[in-house]
Amino acid sequence: MTVIHPNMADENAKIRARDVCVFYGEKKAIDHVSIDISPNYVTAFIGPSGCGKSTFLRCFNRMNDTIGAAKVTGLIELDGEDIHGSRMDVVQLRARVGMVFQKPNPFPKSIYENIAYGPKIHGLAEKKADLDVIVERSLTRAGLWDEVKDRLDDSGTALSGGQQQRLCIARAIAVDPEVILMDEPASALDPIATAKIEELIDELSGRYAIVIVTHSMQQAARVSQRTAFFHLGKMVEYGPTSEIFTNPIEERTKDYITGRYG
Ligand SMILES: Nc1ncnc2c1ncn2[C@@H]1O[C@H](COP(=O)(O)OP(=O)(O)OP(=O)(O)O)[C@@H](O)[C@H]1O
Ligand SMILES: [Mg+2]
Repeated sequence: MTVIHPNMADENAKIRARDVCVFYGEKKAIDHVSIDISPNYVTAFIGPSGCGKSTFLRCFNRMNDTIGAAKVTGLIELDGEDIHGSRMDVVQLRARVGMVFQKPNPFPKSIYENIAYGPKIHGLAEKKADLDVIVERSLTRAGLWDEVKDRLDDSGTALSGGQQQRLCIARAIAVDPEVILMDEPASALDPIATAKIEELIDELSGRYAIVIVTHSMQQAARVSQRTAFFHLGKMVEYGPTSEIFTNPIEERTKDYITGRYG
C-alpha cells in the first residue's frame, strides 16, 4: 500500500508515472509505483540501500534502456507525452530530462568542450559566439564560472571533485532541460562542496523540475519540498517533505526516518 498525502496529485505534473514496474530478469526492483512530479518543487527520493531509488529515477529518461536485463512496464509521461511512445526520440528525451550521477563524470575534454558538446550535437548553437554564450551562461548558473573562466581549455577532469560535479550540472543545463535528475550528487563530496551543490539545487529549483536521490535525510530536508520514501521496490509514502520528516503516516517511514533501519 502507498500512502499519498493530500494535494500531491498535480494535473500540471512535469512527470507522471503510473503503475511502473521495473524488472531485472525475473527480479522485480520497482513494484507498481505511481507518482506526479511537479515542475515547481524539488522532489527527494529516500529509502534504504537497494530499495530501487536509482532504478526508478532512471525510468524518467529511459536510462534503464541501456541496461540489457532491465525491463520497464507501466506509463511514464513527460508533459503528458508517453516517453515510450513511438514519437519519442530518446536522445531528445535525455536532453529534456538531464541526469547528474553520484560520481562526477566529466568528458576527458576541455571544460569548454564539456559544456559545448551537447548544444552542438543538439543544434542549439550555430556560431562559436552563440556557443560561447551558452558555455558562460551554463557555468554561471552552475556557480562555476568565476572559478574556471580563465582556464576553459584545461581538462574537465583536472578540476576538484566538487567542481567536476558542478561542471556536470552545467553540462546538463547547457541543453536547456526541463527536468534534472540527480542520483546522490553530493555523496562523494566533502561538506563544503556538498553545501555548494545544495545551494545550487536551491537556485536552480525555480527553473527546472529537480528530482534528487539522497541517503542524507538532512539533505532531503534542506533541499526538497516533496519526499517519496521507498522500501523494497515500493513507494511507501509520498508527501510534503516537512510532513514526511515530522509527521509520517506509515510505520515504515517512521522507522526509517528515526534511524531504525537503513
Ligand atoms: N543492473 C542491474 N542488474 C540487476 N539488478 C540490479 C541492477 N541494478 C540494480 N539492481 C537491483 O535492483 C534493486 C534496486 O537497486 P537500486 O540501485 O535501484 O537501489 P537504490 O535504492 O538506488 O540503492 P542505493 O541506495 O544503494 O543506491 C537492488 O536489488 C539491486 O540489486
Ligand atoms: Mg542508488
